Amino acid sequence: MTRLTESMATVFVSGTLPGDAVARLRAQHDVVQDEDGVRSSAFDACVGRVEGIVTLLTDRIDGALLDRAPHLRVVANVAVGVDNVDLVACSTRGVLVTNTPDVLTEATADLAFGLLLAAARRIAEGDRLVRAGGFTGWTPTFMLGSRVHGTTLGIVGLGRIGQAMARRARGFGMHVLYTQRSRLAEPMERALGATWVPSLDELLGLADSVSIHCPLTPETTHLFDGPRLARMRAGSTLVNTSRGPIVDEAALAHALEHGPLAAAGLDVFEDEPRVDPALLARPNAVLAPHIGSADRPTREAMASTAIANVLEVLAGRPPITPVR
Ligand code: DGY
Repeated sequence: MTRLTESMATVFVSGTLPGDAVARLRAQHDVVQDEDGVRSSAFDACVGRVEGIVTLLTDRIDGALLDRAPHLRVVANVAVGVDNVDLVACSTRGVLVTNTPDVLTEATADLAFGLLLAAARRIAEGDRLVRAGGFTGWTPTFMLGSRVHGTTLGIVGLGRIGQAMARRARGFGMHVLYTQRSRLAEPMERALGATWVPSLDELLGLADSVSIHCPLTPETTHLFDGPRLARMRAGSTLVNTSRGPIVDEAALAHALEHGPLAAAGLDVFEDEPRVDPALLARPNAVLAPHIGSADRPTREAMASTAIANVLEVLAGRPPITPVR
């Protein structure tokens, strides 16, 4: 008992996590939890002794914060994306960073494919119309959308989630193209039925729909700006379930109003939770509130992975899913 108390560390948990993972952490350590994350006064009160922080993608972890946490050993992000964490600042201070890969791959691809269908086939727009009493009868020209099955999908970033998207697209008889810095090994390409295109601009000229699955970095910020969006095919659909700042929202609203895009499905926004009013005004944009990984088992697995990482590091073992 004495030994357990002596080995207890203070761990800050941001927000409320689903499932019983936090209870497991509480059984071994002193847990401070607050909905306002690292901006809370609860965090300020424990930062001087905290050894682990379980962060959400809304928590910004930078050098200034780390300097206030001299005993910090691990930052466990409850997300696969770690653009909210300054990895260099952590590594120079010897703080390990972990994320939650794999467990959210399929759920995120489910949502990306759902957004593609909803945007191209105008499902959300149709729902609004029916509720508003605008469905006055079937006609051959009513609410015509874009075809999905059998068309060409361009995937930007064929990592875990991009690959899961490719598998779904193959099920719909789609021709799958992808672009990323380094080409996958040919057996992998064959298994996925995906063809590499060396440049994004080339891919945009070939694809009927494009789905973004790359991480947010300085290089990918506004990767889809006005000139890039203008290179997309007339009548095409853009899907983004990665990170909002990869797409210039104002330019996207313009491309949805004046072409070449017919539709967009977005789960992420440049400055969440704010959404550009010009985008809100576009009926051909399907907008989801960053729910890519939000099926219950997935979110529980993400929480569980993050907490397991903290427990491992505090026990002196390597984390399960370190960010390298
Ligand atoms: C992630 O994990 O990066 C997602 O955006 C949250 O589901």
